[in-house]
Amino acid sequence: MNRVIFYLNLNFLVIYSGAQVLSTNLLDKKVDSVLHLMTIQEKIGQTNMYNGFMEFTGPTIENEDNKSKIENIKSGLVGGMLNTLSVKEIRAAQKLAVENSRLGIPMLFGYDVIHGYKTMLPVPLAQAASWDRQVAEVSARISAVETASSGLHWTFAPMIDVCRDGRFGRIMEGAGEDPYLTSVMTEAWIKGYQGSDLSDEYTIAACAKHFAAYGFVEAGREYNTADISRNTLYNVALPPFKAAVDAGAATFMNAFNLVDGVPATGHSHLQRDILKGVWGFEGFVVSDWWSIVEMVSHGFAIDRQDAGRLAMLAGSDMDMEGRVYEEHLAELIKSGEIDETLLNDAVRRILRVKFQLGLFDDPYKYCDESREAEQIFKPEHREISREVARKTAVLLKNENDLLPIKEQVKSIAVIGQMASSKDVPLGNWRAQAITDSGVSLLEGIKNAAKDIEVSYSEGYRLSKGERNFVFELTLAPDDTTGFQEALTFARESDMVVMAMGEDCFQTGEGRSQTDTRLKGNQVELLKRIAEINDQLVVVLMTGRPVAIPEVAAIAPSILQVWYGGTEAGNATADILFGNYNPSGRLPVSFPYYTGQEPLHYDRTNTGRPGANPWNPSVVFWSHYTDSPNQALYPFGYGLSYTEFEYSNLSNRVKEGMVEVKINVKNIGQIEGLETVQVYVRDPVATVAQPIKKLVDFKQVRLKPGEQVTVEFILDEKDFGFYHPDFTFYAENGAFEIMVGKHSEDFISEQVMVTFN
Ligand code: GLC
Repeated sequence: MNRVIFYLNLNFLVIYSGAQVLSTNLLDKKVDSVLHLMTIQEKIGQTNMYNGFMEFTGPTIENEDNKSKIENIKSGLVGGMLNTLSVKEIRAAQKLAVENSRLGIPMLFGYDVIHGYKTMLPVPLAQAASWDRQVAEVSARISAVETASSGLHWTFAPMIDVCRDGRFGRIMEGAGEDPYLTSVMTEAWIKGYQGSDLSDEYTIAACAKHFAAYGFVEAGREYNTADISRNTLYNVALPPFKAAVDAGAATFMNAFNLVDGVPATGHSHLQRDILKGVWGFEGFVVSDWWSIVEMVSHGFAIDRQDAGRLAMLAGSDMDMEGRVYEEHLAELIKSGEIDETLLNDAVRRILRVKFQLGLFDDPYKYCDESREAEQIFKPEHREISREVARKTAVLLKNENDLLPIKEQVKSIAVIGQMASSKDVPLGNWRAQAITDSGVSLLEGIKNAAKDIEVSYSEGYRLSKGERNFVFELTLAPDDTTGFQEALTFARESDMVVMAMGEDCFQTGEGRSQTDTRLKGNQVELLKRIAEINDQLVVVLMTGRPVAIPEVAAIAPSILQVWYGGTEAGNATADILFGNYNPSGRLPVSFPYYTGQEPLHYDRTNTGRPGANPWNPSVVFWSHYTDSPNQALYPFGYGLSYTEFEYSNLSNRVKEGMVEVKINVKNIGQIEGLETVQVYVRDPVATVAQPIKKLVDFKQVRLKPGEQVTVEFILDEKDFGFYHPDFTFYAENGAFEIMVGKHSEDFISEQVMVTFN
């Protein structure tokens, strides 16, 4: 322990050396005081991250030599670990480094806490569907408290890859297709994880990932090339990452994919010019799992050593589990291929985060068994998870106000394997969630139903056998043997609530699909049930925008609940029984057909946007012959148990800003929450602009008959875009301002604005 005291004394020296030392300057001096003591090998050690001994979240090597890993940790040659879990294990691993190595530099311990540690919050795409900053922040807060209480102090979240393609399994992990909504959720997530003081024992370092453009993998195929224009990179993929820097994200993680032909891990323009240069990011960049060595497979590096050289040159500061820096950096520095100043910069960034977390003051500060026992999976967290889940559900259809369930309903048949599942609602990327620890839809309905007879029939089976993060999911064969009982219960009941959708392990990493229709014979059963009972509600559980044209045509009511976390069943029942008026709005466009993907509302107009008015049957315009262009359910869409009316849109231009006002009235019978959305279009610009893009939104809660005037102030940031030279500005001229319920339902006005 004498080493840690040494640093404390050093602080003392610095403070009382008479130097005018400001807190941030003090941090840099502390970092430099350590850096100057380190050997090259010890510096390289800081850039080296090992996987722990308990889980793996990427490909591994046969017969891994744990003994040498332990020896390297004891020699101070490892800067951090992932997938080492529990206070006991983390304390033991930290002890190896701190109490055996020459300088006793503490390690970082990170883990993928994407939507909860043990208490599961709704998956991130669901959180985005709330359009509520508080939902994101409190979800991250709960996650941070439980994560920090487990001994960890770094999460590989938020995932903020804008994604327009439902085929991509990781669309579940982000905030959807829009850069503005993703940026808003990013700021809230990072605030929730990091709080205002990273040294607080209940805050953890966030990690904005995957930098950049991973959500644009071609054809939605996992780990595929992302081939997007610089315009799309600058104006769609990057803005959420700028929001992450502005929110003070402590770390970034790069991406597996190519960007413009260069692996993100070896992309100097992204990591050095933009992230660390223009944006002034002071944290560190960790590679994704093996992404450094994978530059050989990409055809960008000759071998492992060359990959290490390219990654360090490009600003990848830490090597996750790849052992490339460990094996080759010393040689690269000795040969002069890598200047030691680059290594010093990487190490400074890593040490800075360790100081900010307070690990140099106390390497074991997050290792407290009493906090671990007290904070993890506690009832208060579950209650918050239920409140959050309520706000994420999106009512897609509700014919004849079938929902909420009326008093005259005295019997309900609950149908579907997922309706009784206590595991599916937990979602994928579930950290330390206990299997089957969720409240199922069936349980939620039974808990809420008063004087109602509730029956259950599996009806159809979607998946079978082992289900987990690592291995392929096995879908059950089509089998109608369960239909008869389900149809009988449906016939004998006043109402049917049928769970449909995807198993939660159909989305997440390594879970891309060419076909986003619902698997198995669940749609067939729906058709049969609809023939015998029209009081039919579909509760849709998915982590992606699925293609459900038949479900949309058949079911009178459809409630999209995503994977709502530990309390999902109760939260869904709250909505079904009218204890919460659904307020979610789609963060992704739902297509009619998978073939429409990638589908997004902020598309450009094309040169032939519409059919020939004089002869619509002429084919020479931008369309499909077998599908509409539009979404089945568009971005921003969602129904309520009440109804809102918009009127009196007005704009006032003043010194490069536009004051927008609109009246919103609740013309229904119950109180509701409306998300008023503002879109802008620049109809003529030096780079063709989207037909609309979301620039602001506000949520208003209105009682029946209540009307409010909602105001927005738009300025250049709302009208501008990144130009090819990466400068951001708006071009003077005409703009269209659209305000309304969602991207397809709005009132619009033209304005002329001059910005300079
Ligand atoms: C995975 C994921 C990344 C995750 C990392 C560590 O491959 O791409 O999101 O944080 O490895 O588990």
